[in-house]
Amino acid sequence: FPLAGSNTLALHATAKAFVRPSSDAQISQALDWARAEGLAVLPLGEGSNIVLAGDLDLSVLQLATQGRELLKQSEQDVLLRVQAGENWHQLVQWTLQQGYYGLENLALIPGTVGAAPIQNIGAYGVELERFVSAVHGIDLVSAERFSLSAKECCFSYRDSIFKQALRDKVLITAVDLRLSRQASAELSYPALQAALQERGLCEPTPLEIFSAVVALRRSKLPDPAIEANAGSFFKNPQLDASQFLRLQQQFPQMPSYPLLDGGAKVPAAWLIEHCGWKGKKSEGVGVHPGHALVLVNYSAKDGKCILNLAANIVKSVEQRFGIRLEIEPRVYGAETGSP
Ligand code: FAD
Ligand code: EPU
Repeated sequence: FPLAGSNTLALHATAKAFVRPSSDAQISQALDWARAEGLAVLPLGEGSNIVLAGDLDLSVLQLATQGRELLKQSEQDVLLRVQAGENWHQLVQWTLQQGYYGLENLALIPGTVGAAPIQNIGAYGVELERFVSAVHGIDLVSAERFSLSAKECCFSYRDSIFKQALRDKVLITAVDLRLSRQASAELSYPALQAALQERGLCEPTPLEIFSAVVALRRSKLPDPAIEANAGSFFKNPQLDASQFLRLQQQFPQMPSYPLLDGGAKVPAAWLIEHCGWKGKKSEGVGVHPGHALVLVNYSAKDGKCILNLAANIVKSVEQRFGIRLEIEPRVYGAETGSP
């Protein structure tokens, strides 16, 4: 089954099978069928955070389940259960229309609700973990259903138990989110603060924050429908205090965001740009001229081209700054290179 239309990097690869269940019964059927065929199952959302570097000996299961249920409400907040196949951005829009607040900073992140806990999606000073009450799923081996609390998901920056101990072991079927009925603005991200100030908004409403985030993202990031990409290709490195001090002395102009332990997170885009990669192209792939953290597939079919470019970037950033960048999306079909 061809997967080129099912990943935002538009890479060409095939899977042994592709199913798109839209109910619990269809999910069970799909899992039983794969087990009978001896095929491992790869859960897929909108394919906006994967790199396909070869054909997959797997059955791809793309959830089409829809549903937003109000489980509980009080004067302060609401508890929602959202099915995994829902589109994330449409959910954000809908919650704001209902007067449920909190997700506005996470507007326009591509992908599904089911994939959101995998890397604890984050943007503009907010991460998903702040709102998660529980994650529900199915164990791909035992077919048993499970629920994990937010604590049990072990969320951290672009990470969770689903990328560690439960990697490749579960299908997330629904996420419970607790959202506030009172607006409270999270404006700690400097670029968002500046954009709102430019609009003359000192006390912005959630809808004003939503619009500012959408506009910022459209101005910075290429639309995958036009220029195939997977968003940030690398994580922003988190340096401990001594590493950070050493680098700051050498490169005083390097931007950074302080971490609680005295260290700092450094924008990988800045490191990559300062190695001269921004706008470079070769083998049908390249570094976006507007954002150095975004690798674009202009015309390549083979995911190895983009992984070669990534490897060269990692090498030069390590040589210049002594920092080893980590790939953010999941790599499939390659012997090495999985994040
Ligand atoms: P996929 O790419 O389909 O899958 C990603 C991984 O999750 C795979 O390993 C897959 O097996 C697994 N998975 C998917 N669904 C399930 C499920 N139901 N159960 C179990 N495992 C599952 N991310 C951010 O955090 N912040 C951003 O600001 C951001 N901006 C982006 C901008 C662009 C232009 C693009 C292309 C990507 C961006 N991303 C960002 C990355 C991406 O949007 C997120 O990682 C998103 O959650 C991926 O959703 P998806 O449905 O496309 O997942
Ligand atoms: N910068 C450069 N060169 C560039 C682009 C940016 O030097 O070409 C520097 C600038 O100093 C800028 C800083 O990098 O101030 C940060 O840039 P930006 O605000 O665009 O954010 P980012 O660190 O590149 C992270 C996330 C994004 C998320 C934004 C907003 C990671 C790996 N990426 O990007 O998430 O949308 O912040 O919060 O943490 C994704 O995960 O796919 C993604 C797009």
